[in-house]
Amino acid sequence: MIKTRNRHIFKKVPAIGTSQLMRKLSKIESRSMHGQMPIAWKRAENFNIYDLSNNKFIDFTSTIFVTNIGHANKRMIKYLKKGLDQKLLHSYAYIHQIREKYLKNLISFSGKGFQKAFLMSAGTEATEAALKLMRLNGQKLKKRKLGIICFEGNWHGRTMGAQLMSGNEKQKKWIGHKDKNIFHLPFPYPWNVSENEAENFLKNSLQKLSRKVNLKKDICGVMIETFQGWGSVYYPKKYIKLLEKVCKKNNILIAFDEMQAGFGRTGYNFGFQYYGIKPDLICCGKGMGGGVPLSGVIGKKKVLDLPEVGNMSSTNSANPLVCYAGLAVLDEINKKKLVEKTKAKGQILTNYLQKIKNNNPNTILSIQGKGLIAAIIFKKSNRYKVEKLLKKVVFNSMKEGLLVVYTGMNSIKIGPPLSITKSALIEGLQVLDHNISKVFSNYDQD
Ligand SMILES: Cc1ncc(COP(=O)(O)O)c(C=O)c1O
Repeated sequence: MIKTRNRHIFKKVPAIGTSQLMRKLSKIESRSMHGQMPIAWKRAENFNIYDLSNNKFIDFTSTIFVTNIGHANKRMIKYLKKGLDQKLLHSYAYIHQIREKYLKNLISFSGKGFQKAFLMSAGTEATEAALKLMRLNGQKLKKRKLGIICFEGNWHGRTMGAQLMSGNEKQKKWIGHKDKNIFHLPFPYPWNVSENEAENFLKNSLQKLSRKVNLKKDICGVMIETFQGWGSVYYPKKYIKLLEKVCKKNNILIAFDEMQAGFGRTGYNFGFQYYGIKPDLICCGKGMGGGVPLSGVIGKKKVLDLPEVGNMSSTNSANPLVCYAGLAVLDEINKKKLVEKTKAKGQILTNYLQKIKNNNPNTILSIQGKGLIAAIIFKKSNRYKVEKLLKKVVFNSMKEGLLVVYTGMNSIKIGPPLSITKSALIEGLQVLDHNISKVFSNYDQD
């Protein structure tokens, strides 16, 4: 029994009915959809989730960094109702007024240097679209300028192009072939490469690549995940700044995959702003629709206009209802000053996580993150399987009314709605803190 301002666990967790529902679903749904913690969501409001028994949890996941403006946000519901009342649920590519209003606001939210956008439904479509745009741009300059630079360990989605650009070899085995024009550079993990070594690290990687290709003649684009997802791991600033310089010199476009980093999450409108550079393309999804399927690519006019008429559109592109949802996200971020507030709350989060690390120096490797997205990265050990222990930490935290992201790797990820109160943020961190100590107490003598 737990009753605080932010949590209320008064019945068994997992709630009665959860395992039956799991069994029923696994009979009729692909296995690939399963593997999350056993919590059946009945309702979610602001930063709280309620299960089948109405137990109330603090949400440190935002589903998966989607509900930046909070679950069932009032403005979101109001705008969606407005859309429903208008009785225009779909118009294919035929124009409608809310699309113009949303796109205008979206482009202005992206800052100077961006003039056009294109809307889709899933994040993976956005990274695919960026791949296509970078290649169309390259081919316009030189027929063989098709190469895309990506990074080992990065992730861009589950469709073919997105998986080819991702850095996980095992996940793309199903494709059966490699794209000889996609190249992966090693990721400059901060525990291996310091800010001062960053430029040389990049120069070495590019030198190796130059043995295979000519940057100016063969490479058309770079796809950068703003931070590496599993651990919220950023590149050193100097690395990205030098990369931008190299790209400019060689007519190479830069696309940022801002799926997790966009829409205020990192304490910036978009995460690339942290590096002080300007990409040519921004790939967005997740927080963009605040829970409604919306993704998009934002960029320069000359790049967004490269595809022929009809050559880059989708049946559900810019659907009127999702435009209302997208507008609600932007208005909520602006009116509630969520970007500024996220920066401040992010400081509380990182300070607390640093304290957890200091208390567990033998088991925690690093704390990573900015704004309200962060990760605790654990050391690997020969004595125990860290992923297994972390699953226990996440499960035990859930039983105490806190949901965090189980990554399946040696990290735990935290990404509450940006609307979370300071009291709930600290309360959740206390739950996580003592569960880490409890689970690792027998293993911290490395
Ligand atoms: C960095 C990144 N890129 C792309 C995607 C793919 O987005 P979606 O699942 O909406 O296709 C994700 C999703 O987790 C992501 O984290």
